[in-house]
Amino acid sequence: MIKVSVVGITGFTGLELIKILLNHKGVEIAHLCSRSRVGEPIFKVYPQFSGVIERVVEPIDVELLKESDLVFLALPHTVSSGIAKSLFGKTKIIDLSADFRLKDPTVYSKWYGVEHPAFELLGEAVYGLSELNREMIAQAQLVANPGCYATSVILAVAPVAQFLEGAVIADSKSGVSGAGRGFKEGLEFCEVNENFRAYSVSGHRHIPEMEQELKSFNENIRIAFIPHLLPVQRGILSTVYMQVEREMDFFKLYSDFFNGDYFVRVVNSPPSLNSVKGTNFCDIYPYYDRRTKRLIVVSVIDNMIKGASGQAVQNMNIMFGLDEKEGLGGFVFYP
Ligand SMILES: NC(=O)c1ccc[n+]([C@@H]2O[C@H](COP(=O)([O-])OP(=O)(O)OC[C@H]3O[C@@H](n4cnc5c(N)ncnc54)[C@H](OP(=O)(O)O)[C@@H]3O)[C@@H](O)[C@H]2O)c1
Repeated sequence: MIKVSVVGITGFTGLELIKILLNHKGVEIAHLCSRSRVGEPIFKVYPQFSGVIERVVEPIDVELLKESDLVFLALPHTVSSGIAKSLFGKTKIIDLSADFRLKDPTVYSKWYGVEHPAFELLGEAVYGLSELNREMIAQAQLVANPGCYATSVILAVAPVAQFLEGAVIADSKSGVSGAGRGFKEGLEFCEVNENFRAYSVSGHRHIPEMEQELKSFNENIRIAFIPHLLPVQRGILSTVYMQVEREMDFFKLYSDFFNGDYFVRVVNSPPSLNSVKGTNFCDIYPYYDRRTKRLIVVSVIDNMIKGASGQAVQNMNIMFGLDEKEGLGGFVFYP
């Protein structure tokens, strides 16, 4: 049994990690920690665990965490890297924050507005997009779990990145859970419900992450990325427009690219959030518009599963040589 701990269990991705790990046959949960609610029974934080977990929230104690084989950090950026610095070398780490995703600390400072708190570890981190970096993830001590938008866009673009002319336009819509559980202005019920809006139009932090990872397929890749807030709880739908001069059998091209990748399904009609909500799947639909010579790809994920905690467990499975699907067999939340 692998001993795993989760830090940040009072947040959304921490909650998803607990649910997935409880269903995982190869792990033993060592510590469930957070800054707040320490000492309270987990079922008080989440009544859904009443009668399921008989343990209390533990403080974030680095010495205790070192007893784990792997620690998931489900924390805000800058907080994660502080803890990762103390844990590195003692246990494997999967960080769900943005702290180790960007390889260049100056790019991190530019987009996140602070000096990188642990730049000495950047060279150790592997970008954890499971389908693209499996071999490196298997060897990694520190995995930077990708951003949710970045996962949906990179998977939609990677198969054709080498054929692209001009910039990619990625138009993405996310449910509100993408912003986390804490209160944030603009995310109140009356702002979100029955409403729909674009945000971060002048630049979203996932852009450098997308371009960094897609550069290995096309050095000149450029992405215009426009996120929108959907009045739903979970899920991301990205519609990606790409200029490709030559028509190809894109369905086959995508199917061949993801051949053997259980969690990416190339589908032959536009997918909806209901196809993937609650699961670790990414459904991808490619369509070539001859009139405009644009390849239009629709990709959907659950932001908290394939976009965060599900992919984190997929990465853990890869790191420990387990079946990639272990713990991730849940069915879609529908209706
Ligand atoms: N939500 C998503 O769809 C999604 C997808 C991909 C990646 N991510 C990333 O995953 C990370 C967690 O996201 P989330 O959605 O789970 O966020 P969240 O719901 O806001 O939870 C944040 C967690 O971090 C803890 N925390 C906040 N500040 C802290 C501090 N200074 N010291 C110690 N703990 C602190 C909170 O604990 P307290 O109870 O003590 O405040 C809470 O447990 C973030 O970096 C986020 O960007 C999220």
